[in-house]
Amino acid sequence: MAKLQQTFVCQSCGAVYNRWRGRCEACNGWNTIVEETPGGGVQAGPAATRPSRARGRVFPLEGLTGEAKQAPRIPSGIAELDRVTGGGFVRGSVILLGGDPGIGKSTLLMQASAAMAGTGQRVAYISGEEAVGQVRLRAERLGLADRPVELAAETNVEDIVETLSQGRPPALAIIDSIQTMWTETVDSAPGTVTQVRSSAQSLIRFAKTTGTAVILVGHVTKDGQIAGPRVVEHMVDAVASFEGDQGHHFRILRAVKNRFGPTDEIGVFEMTDGGLAEVPNPSALFLAGRDHQAAGTAVFAGMEGTRPLLVEIQALVAPSALGMPRRAVVGWDPNRLSMVLAVLEAHGGIRLSGHDVYLNVAGGLRISEPAADLAVAAALVSSLSGAALPAETVYFGEIGLSGAIRPVAQASARLKEAQKLGFAKALMPQGRETADRALATESLRHIADMVAGIAANGPKRGGRGRNHNPRYEEAD
Ligand code: TYD
Ligand code: MG
Repeated sequence: MAKLQQTFVCQSCGAVYNRWRGRCEACNGWNTIVEETPGGGVQAGPAATRPSRARGRVFPLEGLTGEAKQAPRIPSGIAELDRVTGGGFVRGSVILLGGDPGIGKSTLLMQASAAMAGTGQRVAYISGEEAVGQVRLRAERLGLADRPVELAAETNVEDIVETLSQGRPPALAIIDSIQTMWTETVDSAPGTVTQVRSSAQSLIRFAKTTGTAVILVGHVTKDGQIAGPRVVEHMVDAVASFEGDQGHHFRILRAVKNRFGPTDEIGVFEMTDGGLAEVPNPSALFLAGRDHQAAGTAVFAGMEGTRPLLVEIQALVAPSALGMPRRAVVGWDPNRLSMVLAVLEAHGGIRLSGHDVYLNVAGGLRISEPAADLAVAAALVSSLSGAALPAETVYFGEIGLSGAIRPVAQASARLKEAQKLGFAKALMPQGRETADRALATESLRHIADMVAGIAANGPKRGGRGRNHNPRYEEAD
């Protein structure tokens, strides 16, 4: 057997080196490399040196009929959470839940455990960060202190597995958080990649052998990655992230990976004094408080997974005093904004190079769809011209570099949602989709058509040139 060597492991991405260095070549992190004892895998060591025998068993694929076809699921009792997991927790599956500190992960999981325990299932909540008293205080605040959830403050994985194995295996076990766990099989410090990986491995093995659904909470670094255990992401069945802006009370649970259900599905919550409340109709929430008169706002008919979501896009275009005008974006891709600006200049006949441009997606939502291009362009043109867009119109469509407006997926679902929320018109790419008579659709071929349409409307009142904000008209 080869001589054991010390290894150096990057704590942020898990890359392994044979000597220390200041900067990780894999993730470019500085000072992230720490010396660790090798052979960190839970079953490495003696087992690895045993002579190999054919001990595995094989099963025929076609023999799996009956109840095995559908993964057995345990609904959590929180509809928005079940939507993201794909209809409930799968028995024996492991979910990694990431999110910024203070975003509400512990609150969400306490509510889910209480809801499940209320239906008579055994649920265990293991906190490695808070004392039992603190967890109980939170439950009291949420009005859930009377639910039969088993609480423990424990960080040693062997002890946890031992405790959970007594009696009937729990339906759900929550580990808050994986970074605080440690196992005796490796001697690195808790929180290091080796510890996190080995602890996760033990807990995953526990889940698979007992059928308990396990949720691991993972902390997130400043740039949004689950800290340390990127490696854990490959080992678990599902990865979900809990997002939101500290300044807003909306929280979005997003499936990033899911072996048993859809990805890019979202659940929407609102943080209230009494914990997280489900938001069954997020479009209404994101459009609440909209100023219909203001120039520079357009409603985008977007999709998040299978769910249509209407949001307001706000743009402010103002003459710049700077040699290099500012471009600031919140909630959208800055590169995409640069592209839309370039296309508007090249094919829409609009000069924006002397203007600062600010773009914001209302409500703290983050959108990644190219289908938002058309709504962004409309908001920009509206702000520049000072003409408010018609309040009852929604926009969607991707803009190509030639200025052509390209079709996007799921147009019918977008139209249906717009109609449900009382919109009268949709500006969209050409396509075969038609809405009911209540919603008029206008197909656009080219960005110039849209610019001409807005110019034809003119500034809402008066028409006193560019950047005239109609809201301030009464004052002057
Ligand atoms: P927490 O679940 O502890 O976050 P995490 O586990 O992700 O670190 O949530 C903490 C935040 O939630 C805290 O800032 C206060 C807020 N909060 C409420 O607004 N209402 C509530 O009922 C609870 C329990 C927390
Ligand atoms: Mg917490």
